[in-house]
Amino acid sequence: MADKYGGSTLWDTYHRTRITKESSVDLAGFKSAGVNFKLALWNPRTNGVRYLKSLIYNVADGLDDAGWQRLRRIGGRETGAPIAVRIHGELVCMDYLQAVLELEFMERHVALDGGTVLEIGAGYGRTCHAVLANHDVAGYYIVDLENSLDLARAYLREVLDADDFAKVRFVPAGDLEETLAGLRFDLCLNIDSFAEMDAEVVRNYLAFVARHCRHLYVKNPVGKYLDPSLDDHAEGQELVAMALRTGLLRDVIDIHDSEVVRVQSAKFVDAYRPAAGWTDLADEWAPPWSYYWQALYRAAA
Ligand SMILES: C[S@@+](CC[C@H](N)C(=O)[O-])C[C@H]1O[C@@H](n2cnc3c(N)ncnc32)[C@H](O)[C@@H]1O
Repeated sequence: MADKYGGSTLWDTYHRTRITKESSVDLAGFKSAGVNFKLALWNPRTNGVRYLKSLIYNVADGLDDAGWQRLRRIGGRETGAPIAVRIHGELVCMDYLQAVLELEFMERHVALDGGTVLEIGAGYGRTCHAVLANHDVAGYYIVDLENSLDLARAYLREVLDADDFAKVRFVPAGDLEETLAGLRFDLCLNIDSFAEMDAEVVRNYLAFVARHCRHLYVKNPVGKYLDPSLDDHAEGQELVAMALRTGLLRDVIDIHDSEVVRVQSAKFVDAYRPAAGWTDLADEWAPPWSYYWQALYRAAA
């Protein structure tokens, strides 16, 4: 009779090991520690993939019909085995989910069909892939450092059809001025990359954009952070110190305070304006990361 409503062996174990007689009367910090990780929350330190998948799931749930169509047009997203969830039968990972959101923002302000695009710092090429799958652009130039360029070339050869792949040009950063000297671009893109370059290099790129491009789309962090609770500084202090030194926006801020981010976003919009006279057509928070901002500028006529 005593066991009619008793705890399972699972809960007997929890009460022996986590929610013990001693811990159950100690309220100091219990919501962010082992006690609560068996009550209302999963331990974020050991459940990173679970939280990432939940985030993907929730962000994807906010896509409208046009967003789902943009995503479906991008074939071969399973290449490289991303961490992903499946919604409405569709494989969804954070990289292409963001690509769809970025594309949606750009499309509101620039006509991509028939245009020529320049992307600075393309990573493995997810944005190029998303743009080419959704628009009939005339040409897409990727400028990057050598190893990243090699990866993007291999990846895009795999996921794009031959006609689209033929539109992509891979330009080593060091050859930029020589290779692109006579060209004009309808749109230049920089996503999550200016903030990781030396400030002087960013200024050089912005000056190039001012001379060669009609629009600039930038999506980057609005500042730096120094909160070991986020990542235990797992990459080491040296890397943290390097990361703090890069980019135009080096203020250390609380990246999870919306008011701080909003105030900092004004500096973002000023910092990435390629030259005086360029108009900020639109700027806004770039979800899902709290401290990323996006802006689209147009050159003076
Ligand atoms: C964090 S990744 C972002 C990649 C991609 N935009 C994305 O969001 O998936 C930064 C990219 O910037 C590139 N990069 C870093 N320094 C660069 C430089 N000086 N010139 C051009 N690209 C650079 C890196 O090689 C990498 O491709």
